[in-house]
Amino acid sequence: MMSQSKSNLSIEKTKQSRIDQVDFSNLFFGQTFADHMYICDYKDGTWHAPKIVPYAPFLLDPSTSVFHYGQAVFEGMKAYKDDNGDIFLFRPTENYARINKSCKRLAMPEFPEEWFDEGLKELLKLDRDWIKPGFGNALYLRPFVIGTTAGVIASPSKEYKFVIITSPVQSYYSGDVKVLIADHYSRAANGGFGAAKAAGNYAGQFYPTALAQKEGYQQVIWTDDTTHEKLEECGTMNVMFRIGDTLVTSPVNDRILDGVTRKSVIAMAEKMGIKVEVRSITVHELVQAAENKTLKEIFGCGTAAVISPVSAFGYKGKEYTFERPVQTYAEQIKTAILNIQYNKTEDPFGWRVKIV
Ligand code: COI
Repeated sequence: MMSQSKSNLSIEKTKQSRIDQVDFSNLFFGQTFADHMYICDYKDGTWHAPKIVPYAPFLLDPSTSVFHYGQAVFEGMKAYKDDNGDIFLFRPTENYARINKSCKRLAMPEFPEEWFDEGLKELLKLDRDWIKPGFGNALYLRPFVIGTTAGVIASPSKEYKFVIITSPVQSYYSGDVKVLIADHYSRAANGGFGAAKAAGNYAGQFYPTALAQKEGYQQVIWTDDTTHEKLEECGTMNVMFRIGDTLVTSPVNDRILDGVTRKSVIAMAEKMGIKVEVRSITVHELVQAAENKTLKEIFGCGTAAVISPVSAFGYKGKEYTFERPVQTYAEQIKTAILNIQYNKTEDPFGWRVKIV
């Protein structure tokens, strides 16, 4: 944890809220942004004068480091409102720790924890009306850090911007998805930065995903870069498999993001009495499980979608389907996590943090 002296956060409120122009029952994920944003600049070896200002574009020189060398990391979090109007975050210290881990891997400076907490809290106080109660409704929080030094020299930027923008959302994915198992492209490599939430990890997925879409699959299951045998992530999410009544998911490594939802699903499943195995799972095992009908579920998990069920997978020109039970683990675990996030039940894990 990085700590720094008092922030002296300055707040400039918007003169004219845009909230009345928003149809909260018809939102596209990440397209609408709330009234305010948080910005803090790094210069001369330290973070300076954070501010909250009305949401607006900012100007950057065309030679700015991030445009050329991609020093950019981000987080995804959500703020939830319960029926009393109280606002909660879910495991925010995990996101704080991870953004700094991502920064470190991309040679970027860490951000102080008290400032991160203060920025989120003050933004949520100002834009609390942008958070609607009810399952699926949330304010998606997008903290990000970019290198902002002008000049195309290929070395770490000396200046950075830490920014938080926020976006009202309903749910990210709609419906089940069919996934194609990658047998050529990779999302990440040993010794690379797949475990960081770095912008480049997402850019690298777009082309192979577009190819999969041409074949009728919505997402790709990413495999390890050496053998393409180990099943590691699904689209922008971690991935879990139910074989028989056991939930199996890969351990995190250099190539896999240490997902907050992933660890929450594992803990929740174990609490519900579900057997969980955190171990490598191969394509061969999955194909066999589909063929001998022990494969019962595949689902992705991440902050945006929480849990996203998969209905079929494709591998080397063949499509495999499987019969899911009426009561899926995906649905049961998702509901239990949502109940904690929306303050509908006790939180035995201490994951829910009341903000306002
Ligand atoms: C998530 O699943 O939470 C993600 O990181 C998706 C995000 C890129 C929209």
